[in-house]
Amino acid sequence: MPSIFAVANPKGGSGKTTVAIILAGEFAKHDYSVAIIDADPQGSSYQWHASSVARGLSPKGIDLVRASNEQNLAQALERLDGHDVVVIDTPGYYGPVLTHSALRADLVVLPCKVHTFDASQVVRTIRNLEQHADAASLPMNQHRVLFNEYDSLDRNTRPLREVLAYLNAEQVPVCVNALYRRITYRTMTSGHGTLYQMSDTDESIRKARYNADQVVRELLAASQGANHSDNAT
Ligand SMILES: Nc1ncnc2c1ncn2[C@@H]1O[C@H](COP(=O)(O)OP(=O)(O)OP(=O)(O)O)[C@@H](O)[C@H]1O
Ligand SMILES: [Mg+2]
Repeated sequence: MPSIFAVANPKGGSGKTTVAIILAGEFAKHDYSVAIIDADPQGSSYQWHASSVARGLSPKGIDLVRASNEQNLAQALERLDGHDVVVIDTPGYYGPVLTHSALRADLVVLPCKVHTFDASQVVRTIRNLEQHADAASLPMNQHRVLFNEYDSLDRNTRPLREVLAYLNAEQVPVCVNALYRRITYRTMTSGHGTLYQMSDTDESIRKARYNADQVVRELLAASQGANHSDNAT
């Protein structure tokens, strides 16, 4: 049985595909057999994989499977049972694919920018998923908000304090580590394989690897049921 990570946020452009590719890349680096299920009809993860292959940078140890609806998703999860890790990249809207992914996942990762608009959307999503789990008589799975496109200038700012206070009041668990805004992540997702297929002579790539490693270690611990910390960054 693989560990399943669902990357979810119905808000478009919050960083789901970026986070899914980073998660897959980190696990593959540690020689796990990894699959990404691209469950978004936009096919961004698929596009990343295909253009990496076309460049001769086939993501080592990462299979890519597309699933256009809930039924395909369930079938893909069954077929991928022999993998160590499955990462589901979900669509940018609320629907059966998102709810199915969340119910099957060991961890639901919700990438979110440091802004109240984004945070309130994430809280609504979690409340909807809780209701859905309740209706299915299933427990709500582990979930974490992951601040994305974070900047060190965000530290000690009012928006960060307000967003954290709001998420804490809503009892929503937030990752301690944030994913920084880095051009390297954009380059990678444009079809350059994983961070480990990019040249490490470049300081910015080393920094991106360090950040990705910290984030994924925390998400792995959360997927295994470790206690969450209430205060990010
Ligand atoms: N940490 C980051 N640093 C730099 N750019 C980022 C980061 N995260 C996301 N981006 C950029 O923001 C845009 C949206 O990211 P991404 O495609 O991962 O979001 P998404 O949630 O999958 O979007 P959609 O809802 O359309 O599927 C992309 O151009 C991506 O390169
Ligand atoms: Mg996407």
